[in-house]
Amino acid sequence: MEFRDVLARRRMVRNYDDRAIDRASLDRIAAAALRAPSAGNSQAIGVVVVTDPETRIAIARIADEPEYVASGFDPWISKAPAHIVISVSEKVYRDRYSEADKLGADGSQIDWPVPFWWVDAGASMMAVLLAAVDEGLAAGFLGVHSLPDLSQLLGIPDHFDPIGVVTVGHPAPDRRSGSLDRPKKTATDVVFTDRWG
Ligand SMILES: Cc1cc2nc3c(=O)[nH]c(=O)nc-3n(C[C@H](O)[C@H](O)[C@H](O)COP(=O)(O)O)c2cc1C
Repeated sequence: MEFRDVLARRRMVRNYDDRAIDRASLDRIAAAALRAPSAGNSQAIGVVVVTDPETRIAIARIADEPEYVASGFDPWISKAPAHIVISVSEKVYRDRYSEADKLGADGSQIDWPVPFWWVDAGASMMAVLLAAVDEGLAAGFLGVHSLPDLSQLLGIPDHFDPIGVVTVGHPAPDRRSGSLDRPKKTATDVVFTDRWG
């Protein structure tokens, strides 16, 4: 598939049919997380691919799936045949930026103009979402409010923070999110040349 088509087709899909995902395809999707850039080449992510049905049901519970269903959505989290959980470690960045080539002339660490770990984890998430489309599948991302429960369930080490859950599967017709009632901005609205505005 052409990259522009992958990009154009990506959307958060909140329902999947019963078909399983080919494991090799799933592994390629998960590995796409590693194609994201990382500040200082910190490479501070870890990825858990979940296919075990009981674990997926537990994740759905932690992610408040009953509330989605009560508001008219499909049980899209437990129905998705795979979940991909990307975690990132702030500590790994801080350790990396304590190395000689990253310290300022006065020996100080950068003052972190933005938390690079969140930037990079988001880039990994987008790579995974696009890879799913490239494999002829669909994906969704959801923020999970009880991240400590998710960490405990999946055995994620203390200094890694999961950013949420990517659901992956064969797309089925789904209910649109209320967020999509917001008009989509176009490049004309937000892309400027040489100066904002
Ligand atoms: C950081 C982040 C958190 C999100 N959390 C949720 C969520 O908890 N539940 C959900 O249904 N969608 C969630 N979304 C999906 C957004 O609602 C969706 O990306 C947005 O409405 C635009 O739709 P589209 O991605 O299909 O173009 C999240 C997206 C991002 C980037």
